[in-house]
Amino acid sequence: MPLFDCEPLHAEFGARITGLDMSASLDDYMMEELRKAIDTYSFLVFPDQSFDDEKQLRLTRRLGEPEPSHTAVGRTEYFGTIGNVQPDGTALGSSHKKTIFLTGNNMWHSDASFKGVPAYVSIMCAYETPDEGGATLFVSTRSAYERLSDEDKRLVDPLIVIHDYVYSRSKVALDAVSPELAASLPPVRQRLVRTNPRNGAKNLFIGSHAKAIKGWADADSRRLLDRLVEEAIGGPHIYSHRWQPGDLAIWDNRCLLHRGEGYDADRSRRYMRQTRVRGVETTLAEAA
Ligand SMILES: [Fe+2]
Repeated sequence: MPLFDCEPLHAEFGARITGLDMSASLDDYMMEELRKAIDTYSFLVFPDQSFDDEKQLRLTRRLGEPEPSHTAVGRTEYFGTIGNVQPDGTALGSSHKKTIFLTGNNMWHSDASFKGVPAYVSIMCAYETPDEGGATLFVSTRSAYERLSDEDKRLVDPLIVIHDYVYSRSKVALDAVSPELAASLPPVRQRLVRTNPRNGAKNLFIGSHAKAIKGWADADSRRLLDRLVEEAIGGPHIYSHRWQPGDLAIWDNRCLLHRGEGYDADRSRRYMRQTRVRGVETTLAEAA
Protein backbone atom coordinates (compact mmCIF):
# COMPACT_ATOMS: atom_id res chain seq x y z
CA MET A 1 0.00 0.00 0.00
CA PRO A 2 1.49 3.41 -0.96
CA LEU A 3 2.48 5.66 1.91
CA PHE A 4 0.89 8.69 0.26
CA ASP A 5 -1.12 9.66 -2.80
CA CYS A 6 0.90 11.31 -5.53
CA GLU A 7 -0.75 13.14 -8.42
CA PRO A 8 1.49 14.54 -11.19
CA LEU A 9 1.06 18.27 -11.82
CA HIS A 10 2.77 18.67 -15.20
CA ALA A 11 4.01 16.37 -17.95
CA GLU A 12 7.65 17.08 -17.08
CA PHE A 13 7.77 17.45 -13.29
CA GLY A 14 5.80 18.23 -10.13
CA ALA A 15 3.48 16.26 -7.86
CA ARG A 16 0.64 16.98 -5.44
CA ILE A 17 0.91 14.75 -2.41
CA THR A 18 -1.95 14.03 -0.05
CA GLY A 19 -2.51 11.65 2.82
CA LEU A 20 0.50 12.79 4.81
CA ASP A 21 0.80 15.13 7.80
CA MET A 22 4.12 16.82 7.04
CA SER A 23 4.18 18.59 10.40
CA ALA A 24 4.39 15.26 12.26
CA SER A 25 7.80 13.80 12.96
CA LEU A 26 8.63 11.63 9.95
CA ASP A 27 10.68 8.46 10.41
CA ASP A 28 13.82 7.65 8.41
CA TYR A 29 11.92 5.45 5.97
CA MET A 30 9.48 8.24 5.22
CA MET A 31 12.30 10.75 4.82
CA GLU A 32 13.93 8.45 2.26
CA GLU A 33 10.61 8.24 0.39
CA LEU A 34 10.46 12.03 0.47
CA ARG A 35 14.00 12.34 -0.91
CA LYS A 36 13.14 9.91 -3.70
CA ALA A 37 10.05 11.97 -4.54
CA ILE A 38 12.21 15.14 -4.66
CA ASP A 39 14.67 13.39 -7.01
CA THR A 40 11.84 12.18 -9.23
CA TYR A 41 9.36 15.08 -9.30
CA SER A 42 11.52 18.14 -8.39
CA PHE A 43 8.46 20.06 -7.08
CA LEU A 44 6.15 18.71 -4.38
CA VAL A 45 3.12 20.41 -2.91
CA PHE A 46 1.30 19.15 0.17
CA PRO A 47 -2.05 20.96 0.53
CA ASP A 48 -3.97 21.59 3.77
CA GLN A 49 -1.01 21.34 6.11
CA SER A 50 -0.87 22.91 9.54
CA PHE A 51 2.50 24.55 10.06
CA ASP A 52 4.33 27.19 12.04
CA ASP A 53 7.97 28.30 11.97
CA GLU A 54 9.04 25.78 14.58
CA LYS A 55 7.57 22.84 12.67
CA GLN A 56 8.99 24.16 9.40
CA LEU A 57 12.50 24.41 10.83
CA ARG A 58 12.20 20.87 12.21
CA LEU A 59 11.27 19.54 8.75
CA THR A 60 14.07 21.61 7.20
CA ARG A 61 16.61 20.03 9.57
CA ARG A 62 15.32 16.54 8.71
CA LEU A 63 16.30 17.21 5.09
CA GLY A 64 19.76 18.58 5.86
CA GLU A 65 21.52 21.67 7.09
CA PRO A 66 19.34 24.80 7.13
CA GLU A 67 20.81 27.52 4.96
CA PRO A 68 21.19 30.88 6.70
CA SER A 69 19.57 33.84 4.95
CA HIS A 70 22.13 35.74 2.87
CA THR A 71 20.49 39.08 3.63
CA ALA A 72 20.95 38.75 7.40
CA VAL A 73 24.56 39.91 7.61
CA GLY A 74 26.14 39.40 11.03
CA ARG A 75 23.34 37.19 12.44
CA THR A 76 21.87 33.77 11.67
CA GLU A 77 18.32 33.77 10.34
CA TYR A 78 16.88 30.72 8.61
CA PHE A 79 13.54 32.20 7.51
CA GLY A 80 12.70 34.57 4.75
CA THR A 81 9.25 36.11 4.36
CA ILE A 82 7.99 36.00 0.80
CA GLY A 83 5.28 38.64 0.72
CA ASN A 84 4.43 41.99 2.21
CA VAL A 85 3.11 41.06 5.69
CA GLN A 86 5.43 42.20 8.48
CA PRO A 87 6.06 40.69 11.93
CA ASP A 88 3.61 43.20 13.46
CA GLY A 89 0.86 42.04 11.07
CA THR A 90 0.81 45.15 8.89
CA ALA A 91 1.31 44.87 5.13
CA LEU A 92 3.72 46.97 3.05
CA GLY A 93 2.55 48.56 -0.21
CA SER A 94 4.07 48.20 -3.64
CA SER A 95 6.24 51.33 -3.39
CA HIS A 96 8.04 50.23 -0.20
CA LYS A 97 11.73 49.49 -0.69
CA LYS A 98 11.37 45.96 0.74
CA THR A 99 8.54 45.14 -1.69
CA ILE A 100 10.58 46.45 -4.62
CA PHE A 101 13.62 44.44 -3.48
CA LEU A 102 11.53 41.25 -3.49
CA THR A 103 10.59 41.84 -7.14
CA GLY A 104 14.08 40.46 -7.87
CA ASN A 105 12.37 37.09 -7.31
CA ASN A 106 10.24 37.74 -10.41
CA MET A 107 13.24 36.88 -12.61
CA TRP A 108 13.82 33.19 -13.39
CA HIS A 109 16.27 31.89 -10.81
CA SER A 110 17.44 29.02 -8.65
CA ASP A 111 17.49 30.00 -4.97
CA ALA A 112 20.99 30.75 -3.70
CA SER A 113 22.78 29.70 -6.91
CA PHE A 114 25.14 32.57 -6.03
CA LYS A 115 26.50 30.66 -3.03
CA GLY A 116 29.61 28.50 -3.28
CA VAL A 117 27.53 25.57 -2.05
CA PRO A 118 24.10 26.33 -3.53
CA ALA A 119 20.78 25.26 -2.05
CA TYR A 120 19.42 21.71 -2.31
CA VAL A 121 15.73 22.45 -1.74
CA SER A 122 13.54 25.36 -0.71
CA ILE A 123 10.63 24.79 1.63
CA MET A 124 7.70 27.20 1.55
CA CYS A 125 4.69 27.42 3.85
CA ALA A 126 1.83 29.62 2.61
CA TYR A 127 -0.27 31.42 5.23
CA GLU A 128 -1.86 34.39 3.43
CA THR A 129 -2.13 34.52 -0.35
CA PRO A 130 -3.55 37.10 -2.79
CA ASP A 131 -6.86 36.38 -4.55
CA GLU A 132 -5.29 37.64 -7.78
CA GLY A 133 -1.72 37.12 -8.92
CA GLY A 134 1.05 35.91 -6.63
CA ALA A 135 1.58 32.56 -8.36
CA THR A 136 5.06 31.08 -8.62
CA LEU A 137 6.08 29.72 -12.04
CA PHE A 138 8.40 26.73 -12.31
CA VAL A 139 10.27 25.03 -15.17
CA SER A 140 12.48 21.96 -15.20
CA THR A 141 16.04 22.51 -16.37
CA ARG A 142 16.38 18.73 -16.49
CA SER A 143 13.78 18.66 -19.28
CA ALA A 144 15.47 21.67 -20.85
CA TYR A 145 18.79 19.82 -20.95
CA GLU A 146 17.13 16.74 -22.44
CA ARG A 147 15.69 18.88 -25.25
CA LEU A 148 19.09 20.23 -26.29
CA SER A 149 20.66 18.92 -29.49
CA ASP A 150 23.64 16.58 -29.11
CA GLU A 151 25.83 19.39 -30.42
CA ASP A 152 24.56 21.78 -27.72
CA LYS A 153 25.02 19.14 -25.03
CA ARG A 154 28.66 18.72 -26.07
CA LEU A 155 29.04 22.51 -25.98
CA VAL A 156 27.54 23.10 -22.54
CA ASP A 157 28.68 19.97 -20.68
CA PRO A 158 32.16 21.23 -19.69
CA LEU A 159 31.34 24.92 -19.13
CA ILE A 160 31.73 26.81 -15.86
CA VAL A 161 29.49 29.80 -15.08
CA ILE A 162 30.04 32.74 -12.75
CA HIS A 163 27.00 33.38 -10.53
CA ASP A 164 26.83 36.77 -8.88
CA TYR A 165 24.14 38.11 -6.51
CA VAL A 166 25.23 41.72 -6.94
CA TYR A 167 24.88 41.32 -10.72
CA SER A 168 21.32 39.94 -10.52
CA ARG A 169 20.10 42.45 -7.96
CA SER A 170 21.60 45.36 -9.90
CA LYS A 171 18.82 44.63 -12.43
CA VAL A 172 16.26 45.59 -9.74
CA ALA A 173 18.06 48.78 -8.68
CA LEU A 174 21.69 49.84 -8.88
CA ASP A 175 21.78 50.41 -5.11
CA ALA A 176 19.72 47.29 -4.22
CA VAL A 177 22.65 45.64 -2.44
CA SER A 178 24.50 47.42 0.35
CA PRO A 179 28.32 47.41 0.18
CA GLU A 180 28.35 45.29 3.35
CA LEU A 181 26.07 42.64 1.81
CA ALA A 182 27.96 42.73 -1.50
CA ALA A 183 31.24 42.08 0.32
CA SER A 184 29.72 39.00 1.97
CA LEU A 185 28.58 37.51 -1.36
CA PRO A 186 31.50 37.45 -3.84
CA PRO A 187 30.91 35.86 -7.29
CA VAL A 188 31.17 32.04 -7.36
CA ARG A 189 31.83 29.40 -10.01
CA GLN A 190 29.24 26.74 -10.81
CA ARG A 191 29.03 23.93 -13.31
CA LEU A 192 26.62 24.79 -16.15
CA VAL A 193 25.51 21.15 -16.26
CA ARG A 194 24.83 19.26 -13.05
CA THR A 195 24.14 15.58 -12.52
CA ASN A 196 21.80 14.23 -9.85
CA PRO A 197 24.05 11.83 -7.90
CA ARG A 198 21.18 9.43 -7.13
CA ASN A 199 19.54 8.98 -10.52
CA GLY A 200 22.16 10.28 -12.96
CA ALA A 201 19.80 12.85 -14.54
CA LYS A 202 21.57 15.87 -15.99
CA ASN A 203 20.27 19.43 -15.93
CA LEU A 204 21.24 23.00 -16.74
CA PHE A 205 22.11 25.22 -13.79
CA ILE A 206 21.22 28.72 -14.96
CA GLY A 207 19.03 31.71 -14.07
CA SER A 208 19.18 35.36 -13.11
CA HIS A 209 22.32 35.05 -10.99
CA ALA A 210 24.31 33.52 -13.89
CA LYS A 211 26.49 36.38 -15.05
CA ALA A 212 29.07 34.95 -17.44
CA ILE A 213 30.69 31.81 -18.78
CA LYS A 214 34.24 31.45 -17.55
CA GLY A 215 36.75 32.18 -20.30
CA TRP A 216 34.17 33.45 -22.83
CA ALA A 217 33.76 36.94 -24.24
CA ASP A 218 30.92 38.82 -22.50
CA ALA A 219 28.64 39.05 -25.53
CA ASP A 220 29.00 35.35 -26.44
CA SER A 221 28.46 34.24 -22.91
CA ARG A 222 25.38 36.43 -22.44
CA ARG A 223 23.93 35.15 -25.71
CA LEU A 224 24.29 31.49 -24.73
CA LEU A 225 23.03 31.95 -21.16
CA ASP A 226 20.00 33.90 -22.39
CA ARG A 227 19.27 31.29 -25.09
CA LEU A 228 19.37 28.46 -22.58
CA VAL A 229 16.92 30.27 -20.28
CA GLU A 230 14.63 31.11 -23.22
CA GLU A 231 14.59 27.49 -24.31
CA ALA A 232 13.89 26.31 -20.75
CA ILE A 233 10.94 28.66 -20.14
CA GLY A 234 8.88 28.09 -23.30
CA GLY A 235 5.11 28.18 -22.61
CA PRO A 236 4.27 24.46 -22.47
CA HIS A 237 7.14 23.81 -20.07
CA ILE A 238 5.85 26.08 -17.29
CA TYR A 239 3.93 24.89 -14.24
CA SER A 240 2.27 27.83 -12.48
CA HIS A 241 1.57 27.22 -8.81
CA ARG A 242 -1.30 29.26 -7.41
CA TRP A 243 -0.72 29.23 -3.66
CA GLN A 244 -3.44 28.42 -1.16
CA PRO A 245 -3.14 28.98 2.59
CA GLY A 246 -2.03 25.65 4.06
CA ASP A 247 0.21 24.74 1.12
CA LEU A 248 3.59 23.34 1.98
CA ALA A 249 5.87 23.10 -1.04
CA ILE A 250 9.35 21.65 -1.43
CA TRP A 251 11.30 22.24 -4.62
CA ASP A 252 14.64 21.09 -5.91
CA ASN A 253 16.82 24.11 -6.68
CA ARG A 254 19.39 21.92 -8.36
CA CYS A 255 17.18 21.33 -11.40
CA LEU A 256 14.30 23.86 -11.38
CA LEU A 257 14.04 27.53 -12.20
CA HIS A 258 11.23 29.55 -10.71
CA ARG A 259 9.97 33.10 -10.62
CA GLY A 260 7.23 35.07 -8.94
CA GLU A 261 4.34 36.19 -11.12
CA GLY A 262 3.98 39.40 -9.09
CA TYR A 263 0.89 40.69 -7.28
CA ASP A 264 -0.64 43.99 -6.26
CA ALA A 265 0.85 44.64 -2.81
CA ASP A 266 -1.40 47.71 -2.40
CA ARG A 267 -4.51 45.51 -2.61
CA SER A 268 -3.41 42.15 -1.24
CA ARG A 269 -1.70 40.56 1.71
CA ARG A 270 0.82 37.83 1.12
CA TYR A 271 2.60 35.91 3.86
CA MET A 272 4.67 32.89 3.03
CA ARG A 273 7.68 31.64 4.95
CA GLN A 274 10.67 30.09 3.26
CA THR A 275 13.56 28.02 4.51
CA ARG A 276 16.22 26.32 2.44
CA VAL A 277 18.40 23.27 2.85
CA ARG A 278 22.04 23.74 1.95
CA GLY A 279 23.59 21.47 -0.68
CA VAL A 280 26.33 19.08 0.37
CA GLU A 281 29.23 20.34 -1.75
CA THR A 282 30.20 22.83 -4.43
CA THR A 283 28.92 22.04 -7.91
CA LEU A 284 32.55 21.86 -9.06
CA ALA A 285 33.10 18.96 -6.66
CA GLU A 286 30.04 17.07 -7.92
CA ALA A 287 30.58 14.07 -10.18
CA ALA A 288 29.84 14.90 -13.83
FE1 LIG B 1 13.18 32.11 -5.17
